[in-house]
Amino acid sequence: MPFSKLGLSDPIVKAISDAGYSKPTAIQKQAIPVILSGKDVVAAAQTGTGKTASFVLPIIERIQSRPIKRGKRIRVLILAPTRELAAQVEANVTKYRAHTDLTSMAIYGGVDDEPQKEQLIAGVDILVATPGRLLDLVHQRAVHFDELETLVLDEADRMLDMGFSGDIYKIIDRLPLQRQTLLFTATLTDDVRNLADEINNGALEITISPKAQTAATIEQYLIAIDKDKKSALLSHLITDQVWDQALIFIEKKHGAAKLVEQLAKRGIVAEAIHGGRSQASREKILANFKSGELKFLVATGIAARGLDIDELTRVVNYDLPFKPEDYIHRIGRTGRAGAAGVAVSFVALGDFKNLCAIESRLGHIIKRKEVEGFIVKKEVPVSILNYVTKHKRENAYQGSGGNNSSHQSRNGSSRSGQSRSRQDSKPVPSKSDSESSNQPFKWEKIKK
Ligand SMILES: Nc1ncnc2c1ncn2[C@@H]1O[C@H](COP(=O)(O)OP(=O)(O)O)[C@@H](O)[C@H]1O
Ligand SMILES: [Mg+2]
Repeated sequence: MPFSKLGLSDPIVKAISDAGYSKPTAIQKQAIPVILSGKDVVAAAQTGTGKTASFVLPIIERIQSRPIKRGKRIRVLILAPTRELAAQVEANVTKYRAHTDLTSMAIYGGVDDEPQKEQLIAGVDILVATPGRLLDLVHQRAVHFDELETLVLDEADRMLDMGFSGDIYKIIDRLPLQRQTLLFTATLTDDVRNLADEINNGALEITISPKAQTAATIEQYLIAIDKDKKSALLSHLITDQVWDQALIFIEKKHGAAKLVEQLAKRGIVAEAIHGGRSQASREKILANFKSGELKFLVATGIAARGLDIDELTRVVNYDLPFKPEDYIHRIGRTGRAGAAGVAVSFVALGDFKNLCAIESRLGHIIKRKEVEGFIVKKEVPVSILNYVTKHKRENAYQGSGGNNSSHQSRNGSSRSGQSRSRQDSKPVPSKSDSESSNQPFKWEKIKK
């Protein structure tokens, strides 16, 4: 199906063909007609599936026929969690509005606000902003929402993770009640649903399954490794397998700086991007990475989330993320636009619980590879897909009442003999096994 069949007019279809897109992605096919009809939408689709165009194109279509440029009056507000994402979304808006008279700009913190204020005074139709800087400018009366027609919350799950919910509500309180509200997210968590319920007006929910999107193009595997050997393993892989480029995710920002030093000692040039660096240096590093000049980028999860880096072939989870959603996001960095990608995760014994949670979310065990010369001292057991967290376990038992005492729920055995004992626990349960059984057991004792 071509873009023109979705109800988009010539100037927009032309911009799409300038961008080189031949057909709409799944989310674009579903979201564009609904947004054009003026309905509120909550849309969930994995990172890299073209969500930006799925809301920007119909928004431009709706407002292009009536361009009004009144100083400080904006018509569309798009909120994004980070400076990089705001800049990236605005770059897309600029591309898609090229054959219209509309204007756009991005505002975010970490840079001088004077030029931003000047541009707002001149008049902007579509404003892309991070919540913090936007509120600053609202308080300075540099931006007014009385002609706002559409609000978009992009990467809503991440905005909530980053603690922006208070700011989001403060902003929404200032917007006209009569408006179209669109919420885009990579994962539809309970928090995102609650936010959507509060701010939307009978929104239509669109969900594109991540499995259909990822399966074919991305190779995922794990390497079990002792914690203190991770940097040596990474250097070895880069050199031995002659890696072209890699985005390397690490948990902490001081860890990122340290890893860059450790790689440098082995003759590998890398740079780190994290919240502690200035906006200018983050932008420069990112530009170098995108151009291919910089081959290895070490990033904390938040700094790199949602970044659109073309033709990224390799992602490394140097540290396994704590949340399964984050794992899925990171994997979404590779294999974009149909290109093949590889996602390698380093797992140490301490990651076992996280690994179980991730694999149980994926619904399958991730393939493991061994690397010659790197023998693990602290073996990581094969995961158990029906691993039940302590929290869930206790809730389940509170709910079930009757025979199960709290003591039984902790040690995972019961007198009735229904629970798994250590001996009969299978290290790799089947899918149906994981669905049918939610009996607790003591995972710590299970060895490969
Ligand atoms: N219909 C399309 N055909 C080809 N590439 C597309 C299409 N729509 C978007 N893209 C490209 O896909 C990449 C990811 O899009 P983006 O909107 O950042 O994804 P998401 O917000 O879902 O993570 C971008 O480089 C974008 O230009
Ligand atoms: Mg996005």
